Amino acid sequence: MEDRLPDTAAPQPKPLRIAIAGLGTVGAGVIRLLDTNATLIAARAGRAIEVVSVSARDRSKDRGVDIGRFAWEDDMTALARRGDVDVVVELVGGSDGPALALSRAALTAGKGLVTANKAMVAHHGLELAQLAEAAGVPLKFEAAVGGGIPVIKGLREGTSANALTKVYGILNGTCNYILSTMERTGADFADVLAEAQRLGFAEADPAFDIEGVDAAHKLAILAAIGFGTRIDFAGVRVNGITQVRAADIAQADALGFVIRLIGEADVEETPAGPRLLQRVRPCLVAKGHPLSAVDGATNAVVAEGNFSGRLLFQGAGAGDGPTASAVAADLIDIARDEVGAPFSIPVAQLAAMPPAEPGHRTERTYLRFMVKDRPGVLAEITAAMRDGNVSIESLIQQGRGHDAGEVMVAMVTHEGQEANVTAALALLEGSDSLTGDPLVLPILPL
Ligand SMILES: NC(=O)c1ccc[n+]([C@@H]2O[C@H](COP(=O)([O-])OP(=O)(O)OC[C@H]3O[C@@H](n4cnc5c(N)ncnc54)[C@H](OP(=O)(O)O)[C@@H]3O)[C@@H](O)[C@H]2O)c1
Repeated sequence: MEDRLPDTAAPQPKPLRIAIAGLGTVGAGVIRLLDTNATLIAARAGRAIEVVSVSARDRSKDRGVDIGRFAWEDDMTALARRGDVDVVVELVGGSDGPALALSRAALTAGKGLVTANKAMVAHHGLELAQLAEAAGVPLKFEAAVGGGIPVIKGLREGTSANALTKVYGILNGTCNYILSTMERTGADFADVLAEAQRLGFAEADPAFDIEGVDAAHKLAILAAIGFGTRIDFAGVRVNGITQVRAADIAQADALGFVIRLIGEADVEETPAGPRLLQRVRPCLVAKGHPLSAVDGATNAVVAEGNFSGRLLFQGAGAGDGPTASAVAADLIDIARDEVGAPFSIPVAQLAAMPPAEPGHRTERTYLRFMVKDRPGVLAEITAAMRDGNVSIESLIQQGRGHDAGEVMVAMVTHEGQEANVTAALALLEGSDSLTGDPLVLPILPL
């Protein structure tokens, strides 16, 4: 078949002109993707997406992509002032500092903003959304949650007709890699973390990941979109995975569970009005639960809608390709003039929901104590449980722990109020039978 020459007389739609700040893993990935898939992107977007200008710290660094064809700005906020740019793409990172300054400048100057920066959206998302709405320009952050998984689109568009009852999932690939590797190899936390750092699955400073803060950023974003609430990062209760031992994972396995760091959010109706519960904590996940099969650096989000039922979004939560895919999807939406409120509902209509107090909620719990190997300790623990009104379903006393003279006592409780477990543990506080803080892991319902 003969190729048809383009009809040069027909007016070509104007390209969407973008500037990219940050040319690291994600920034270079976006350039590579826009180059590789330029034809199909232009066809789907209805016009070309053209990089006009870029900025990073070091102009001379080899980034594996040709950046010589783009105008370079030493000062990235200059990208926001360029008359030849429609949308600024912020891929620098950090909740405040230059990323925030650039984002404010871009929106104030009437440019659209696309960002992968969950920390900035979690802390300043409302302010940025207000700036975007005031200027009538798009603000999009699909890549900020779950890397390549279109979960923000899923909640903003796919489930938009539903009242969500719950959003939860595995939101941090580093923690999931560590926990699933501990499970597979039997190695302890510190050794697997060191290996993850060596392989590039964990940052040199892993605190944000292993202490649950990164997952909390993402959860706060999902909760705001899913429940139509003002984003409330400070309201997330956060526990990381640093206390989980190989012995806990082995114990969980014997009981039919795996351990995963789960971020979960729901809305509770109370006589004083609705309350938002957001928390990130390691949980026991039954082997039949869809999240139990999520291994390695993969992320997964479950959304439960009142008409859709349970939906599972799963995929690569990080990496240059998946994250670039999400950034480019936002750009294609903007090129198509599909804008919409950043948090699905205009900022003025988002509900300000106080945090829920979960003490009266019921769940089954795994409790683990490291204790001195001496008579009477087990009786002391079970007495505290009895006095706290915690009913024990099964109790396991294991052999020696890390230190001589230390043993592990693990138990699973019957379903009961969270406040009862807290009260029972308070009775053991300061006991010299315990050699460390107890570990409390809720059991995720199926
Ligand atoms: N990596 C992922 O898989 C992933 C996944 C989801 C979301 N994200 C988010 O995407 C964003 C970027 O992450 P990344 O992994 O691509 O980071 P990265 O590889 O560290 O790249 C950061 C880029 O920002 C530039 N930069 C940093 N500070 C700067 C400053 N003060 N002035 C000018 N440029 C500066 C760096 O310049 P130089 O290169 O010149 O040093 C670098 O190009 C972050 O918000 C991150 O949370 C990342």
